[in-house]
Amino acid sequence: MGDKPLIEINDLWVTYWARSAFQLRSKPFHAVKGVSLSIKAGQTLGIVGESGSGKSSLANAVLGLVPVESGTIRFDQHELSAMKTRYPAAVRKQIQAVFQDPFSSLNPSMTVEDIISEPLRVHTKMSNDQRRDLVVELLELVSLSKDHLKRHPHEFSGGQRQRIAIASALALQPKLLVLDEPVSALDVSTQNQIINLLYERRDALGIAYMLIAHDLALVHHISDRIAVMYLGHIVEEGPADRVYKNPAHPYTKALLEAVPLLDPAKQRARRAARKAQPAYDTPRDAQVGCPYKNRCAQVLPKCQTQAPTPFSVKGGGVASCFLVADAQPTSEAL
Ligand SMILES: Nc1ncnc2c1ncn2[C@@H]1O[C@H](COP(=O)(O)OP(=O)(O)O)[C@@H](O)[C@H]1O
Ligand SMILES: [Mg+2]
Repeated sequence: MGDKPLIEINDLWVTYWARSAFQLRSKPFHAVKGVSLSIKAGQTLGIVGESGSGKSSLANAVLGLVPVESGTIRFDQHELSAMKTRYPAAVRKQIQAVFQDPFSSLNPSMTVEDIISEPLRVHTKMSNDQRRDLVVELLELVSLSKDHLKRHPHEFSGGQRQRIAIASALALQPKLLVLDEPVSALDVSTQNQIINLLYERRDALGIAYMLIAHDLALVHHISDRIAVMYLGHIVEEGPADRVYKNPAHPYTKALLEAVPLLDPAKQRARRAARKAQPAYDTPRDAQVGCPYKNRCAQVLPKCQTQAPTPFSVKGGGVASCFLVADAQPTSEAL
């Protein structure tokens, strides 16, 4: 495959059209705003950011579940963004997904065997025996066993269900696994178990992960690179270690300083703030200044009117912040 990335996203915009009761015309909400990213074969890109930053919209655009407004998504030899209908089977086989909620993502009427063997039935011509053998192998891969074959999802804990979802996603040996907050619904010790499982299996299987999370600390050690999303933008991207230990963008720093919100009053306030987010926003061409300007403690006058482009960060990667540019007069900064 050489140095060409497995997946390459270029200037991607995802827009929803919202209409409230008294609006005659629907208005756009830009959930993903000009995102460019790439992932090499077998590598893990962690995508972090708080709720509402557009992570799922980005993942769903890759999976072909929401339309691309503009920009391109190239996967292997395929131009995904140009596909107007469902991806062809050859692509669907190669890109699998695991979602956040292990309680709604598995069909309750199916047994574990049915769930894991379904993709094999659809995409391969294996005999029943071959399929059964592979399902058992997959169960063992996620630390479950053949004793679980005939059971139904409701008999399992959240963590076990995510293991089943992962086994099912791995069945076809995809090249890319999109994991949209796969552990957010789980307790902390189970979170670590699942992350470790993904980590251990990755190299053996040679799969690339697009791993979405809101907790940078949880995913940095399994990620090769980290991208930080804020209101639809990638504000920082770089080698996982550098981003975690030496964050450059003020938003990344804030994310790392944020302690888990155990205080119910704070959680309520945060939820209310999220709900208060407008259902539509400034038209695409009229967006001015830095997307983080209203929350940034170090905001400069020029941040109000100019959008910072990505500047190189010492130690690798980029951050879209004038402070980074000013700190490094040798970069392509003004
Ligand atoms: N189907 C939709 N219609 C309208 N707005 C949506 C839709 N899905 C998501 N959004 C909005 O887009 C923004 C980004 O959402 P999402 O991609 O789910 O972010 P994240 O996964 O980071 O929480 C949010 O403000 C959300 O309310
Ligand atoms: Mg999400």
